[in-house]
Amino acid sequence: MTSVLGFGGYVPERVMTNADWAEVVDTTDEWITTRTGIKERRFAADDQSTLDLAEEAALVAMKDAGLGPDEIDEIIVATDTPEVYTPDTASLMQDRLGCRNIPTYDLGGSGCAGWIQAIDVARSRIAFEPKRVLVVGVELISRLISWEDRTTAVLFGDGAGAVVMAREGGKAELVDVISGTDGSKADILTLQTGGTRHPFTVESAAAGDHQRLDMDGQAVFREAVRRMSSVTLELLERIGKGIEDVDLLVPHQANKRIIDAVGHKLGIDEDRVFINVDRYGNTGSATVPLGLWEAHAGGQIRDGDLVMLTAFGAGFHWASAALQF
Ligand SMILES: CC(C)(COP(=O)(O)OP(=O)(O)OC[C@H]1O[C@@H](n2cnc3c(N)ncnc32)[C@H](O)[C@@H]1OP(=O)(O)O)[C@@H](O)C(=O)NCCC(=O)NCCS
Repeated sequence: MTSVLGFGGYVPERVMTNADWAEVVDTTDEWITTRTGIKERRFAADDQSTLDLAEEAALVAMKDAGLGPDEIDEIIVATDTPEVYTPDTASLMQDRLGCRNIPTYDLGGSGCAGWIQAIDVARSRIAFEPKRVLVVGVELISRLISWEDRTTAVLFGDGAGAVVMAREGGKAELVDVISGTDGSKADILTLQTGGTRHPFTVESAAAGDHQRLDMDGQAVFREAVRRMSSVTLELLERIGKGIEDVDLLVPHQANKRIIDAVGHKLGIDEDRVFINVDRYGNTGSATVPLGLWEAHAGGQIRDGDLVMLTAFGAGFHWASAALQF
């Protein structure tokens, strides 16, 4: 058995509203609200970096679990916006939190489904050895988006979420996880510059290519709805449950219309679907743990509840997890 001992989350204080974006690019509150459901998002302060956001969420999760840094046995960080290129954010976390010389690693570049993939990895590590694993999803996307590209810039926000997982006890059991990948669709959501295929050059930096997120919005929309709903149904069937048994669905928060379409396909009432995309936008691999923390801390989840998580993102990856509280 794998359980969750504690939940944590963090969003920076600075609020960037749709009206603020309308002063920067050619957009309106009305366009952003009707197409995405986003009203505002949080942006990190100039002196904050990915590690700061991750640390805040991790401290909340560790406190919720009643554990100190010397009681954590492994750290996994899911992020597309790491602190530095090398080493991974997880190794910097080990030092920042004051943990022992434990194994740590990132699931980098795995997009918005990365955190659910990371809890699946943690589950198998815990099955192998009775460890307490800190699993963080964190993004500081505001520093990577192009402030000139209205189609992508307005969608994203900064934030972090975390859990501490262990073999037994705790607040919820991680019943099962399913994830999948279709790499043939890697090009529908990609940031190419900076890798070995398109290394940074003076010219590419001057052109702002390091912030050029290529996105086929409508293809992403279609795949997201298809994959998040089908993987959730597949997992429910595997654990012998139906949609009527689900007390709360915490889906990846990319776009309210995507969430509504997934809810419709699954046949689940709106009041059983968690939403915070209106307040935070798309915080990448942080949306699911952040939502889970908010829902739990805010009393939207009670003992005995079955909570389904689902996410999709660049890769193209998708995943679903079942938590029994
Ligand atoms: C991005 C998205 C909101 C665009 O919505 P859409 O209904 O598909 O809109 P389109 O791309 O067809 O664009 C419609 C028009 O709005 C314009 N537009 C795009 N962004 C705009 C903005 N911020 N403000 C105003 N107009 C905008 C487009 O230029 C286009 O204009 P045109 O008709 O003159 O060419 C939608 O496709 C989406 O949410 N996709 C999924 C994206 C996602 O979730 N990515 C992260 C995955 S983890």
